[in-house]
Formats: sequence, C-alpha cells, structure tokens
Amino acid sequence: MAIDILQISRNALEHQKKDPSVINASIGMFFDEDRKISGMPAVSKALRELPDMSVMPYPAVDGGKAFKDNVISWTFGEYEQRIREEMYVDACATPGGSGAIASTFSVYSKPNDYIFVSNIRWQYDRFADRAHVRLYEHNMFKDEGFDLESFDESLRELCKIQKQVIVIVNDPCHNPTGYTLSHYEFKRIVDILNKYDQNDIVFLYDVAYLEYTSETDNRIKVLELLTLKEHVMTVLAFSGSKTFGVYGLRLGAAIGLSKNKKHIENFRPRFVNEARGSWSATPTISIELLNHFSKKENFEAFAKDLIKIKEIVQKRSESFIKQAKEIGLQTHPFKSGFYVIVLTDHPMEVYEKLAQDGVYVVPMEKGIRIALCSISLKEIDGLPKRIMKFL
Ligand SMILES: Cc1ncc(COP(=O)(O)O)c(C=O)c1O
Repeated sequence: MAIDILQISRNALEHQKKDPSVINASIGMFFDEDRKISGMPAVSKALRELPDMSVMPYPAVDGGKAFKDNVISWTFGEYEQRIREEMYVDACATPGGSGAIASTFSVYSKPNDYIFVSNIRWQYDRFADRAHVRLYEHNMFKDEGFDLESFDESLRELCKIQKQVIVIVNDPCHNPTGYTLSHYEFKRIVDILNKYDQNDIVFLYDVAYLEYTSETDNRIKVLELLTLKEHVMTVLAFSGSKTFGVYGLRLGAAIGLSKNKKHIENFRPRFVNEARGSWSATPTISIELLNHFSKKENFEAFAKDLIKIKEIVQKRSESFIKQAKEIGLQTHPFKSGFYVIVLTDHPMEVYEKLAQDGVYVVPMEKGIRIALCSISLKEIDGLPKRIMKFL
C-alpha cells in the first residue's frame, strides 16, 4: 500500500484551517499539548546560537572525526568501550535515518535482491523501489510477542536462495506498532542471525526511536551485538530527526559494526562514495548540533527536554490504550513510542470515513496508524470511541 503520509498531513492541515477541531494523527513528529513543535527548547536555542563557522562551510563527507566519535558514543552510551574493545566500528553522517537506510540498500544489495523485513513495517518499500530490490517478509507477531519462529523459518528460506541478505529490525518503539522487543527476543534474533554463517548477513538495525522507549536501560540490548559472528555486518541507522525533534534539518548516521575487520575497512569508502554520488554531504549545522549536545555541559539541558517529551507521549499512549481496552478496540501489541495501530480489515475505508469526520490517520496493511506523538491528551480523550464507530 503506497501511502503518502506527508500528503495526508497536508490534507489535515488544510482541513484544520477551515475547522480547528480537526485532529491530525498522521505524522511522526512530536507536537506539544498546544499543537506546536517546540518540544525541545534547548535544541531551538542551540540552533539559533551556533556560530557561522559551525553552519556555513562544507562539512567532511562522513561528518568528520569528532562527529563520528560522538555519534558512536551517543548510540552505544555506557557500553561503547566494550563494543570498541571487542568489535570494529566506524560511522558516516547521513541526512536522517533515511539516508542511512537508503545507502545501506545501495551499498549492500544488487538489483532484484530480496531484503528481509517484517510484514508490518515502516515504508522500507520506498527505499526498495529506488534500489530496485524486492522485499521478503516474515510474520511479525505471534500472540502478544515477536514471532521468532517465522523470523527464523523465513530467513532460512531466503538464505537458501541468496548469499548476501540485508535483514531489517526496527526497535525500540517499532513504527508503526509501538512494539519494543524484550531483551530475550532481541538475543534470540541475534542467535538466529549467527546461525546463517554460510551467508553474508547485513543487519540493518533501525534505532530511529532509541530515545523514546520506556525500557529502564534503553541501550543494554546493544551488548547482544557483541556475540555476532564474523559473517554479520551490522549497520545501525541513527536518526537525529527523532532524537532532537529536528525533522526538517536532516541529521542521521550509519554506524558500521563488525567482528570482521575487512567489513569496517570497506565501510568508510563505500558510504563516502555513496554520499558523494547522491546527497553530497550532510548539512554542517546538523553535524554540529550533535557535536554540541555531545558535550557534557550541554547534554543536561537536552536530557531535561527529552524527559518531558517522553512523559507526555507516555501519558498519551496510556490514555489511548486504556480507552481502547475499555471498549474492545483491537490494537497490535504496544509498549511505547510515537504510534499505535488499530486493527481493521478495511483500512482504506476507515481512513476515508475518519478523514471526513475530521480525524486524519494513516491506513496500513490491516490497520490504521495513530500518531500519538502529534496529538494532545485532549484530542485523545474520546478518540478510540470515535474510531470504533467506523470499524
Ligand atoms: C522506523 C523509522 N526509521 C527511520 C526513519 C527515518 O527518519 P529520518 O530520516 O527523518 O531521520 C523514520 C522516520 O519516520 C522511521 O519511522
């Protein structure tokens, strides 16, 4: 289902001009309780105050040494040292997490290859179209958890027909369901990747919503990556858009990680070449924004803003899920994050009826996605009931 989410959001905004009570639950951007994108005052302030020399010149294509070190430290947190001791690692700045995904497709696949994805997913289909590759699906849920059996079975099938396989896992706060893998499930996924050691596995680990999970330690799962064998090349897709709430700025990174030294020696030239031949370089201001907040003295202001946003999003999801349960509205298993999926067999029809009624959501395979990040608690009050009417 090729849906243009940005267009749905534009339609909602047009409708909102005529009728301010219209609810725009279509887009993955954090809006505060007054419908404003002002969630992170520390970020707005930093952007305004960055000196010209941090904003105007061309940057290094890969972001430069400071950026690469910073984004690696940011992503692995307190586990960085162990990761660096036991594995080879490098990074390249990209315009958003999207840049990391697109370049991974381009670098590690050839036309007509299959890429391994879950049957419920964000729009990887678009990246696949552009790279002229196809998608090979596994089932995502069994009962209330991740379907490890299907992940294993389907990957086994694919590994028989293709030597090099890109495997995408989007965690935590999976878009569109809001599911977060348990530590056990993540460990089992890593074990499964290790099983296929006659293949070359590229593990594209999309951590766009790393900061928004309700897990007590949101980075501990990365320790499982230490057990990956040499046939696995991991690329973590980091999104500065989601991390700092700067969606239009285009900040991201591809972080390459492997036990195999050759994988990482090849990583930099291939990603830099990819960047030079497509987007050229990531905006200097984006690179410097991450460098700014990587300094201890600046980080605290960001952390305060982030806690506030997380609390608001958590309250919104609790309210939605509670109301949904009370009236028997079915959703996919939800843990935390920006989105929730309400199940329906006729998503297009429900989407259209809701839009006419002034509620904009995104139709997906077997459900509609509600972006809880972008609507207020007041708007969520009574929303499940309003949706139920059209199911
Ligand atoms: C799962 C997932 N991955 C990656 C991205 C890429 O985000 P960006 O390119 O804005 O950093 C998004 C954005 O919505 C997303 O939902």
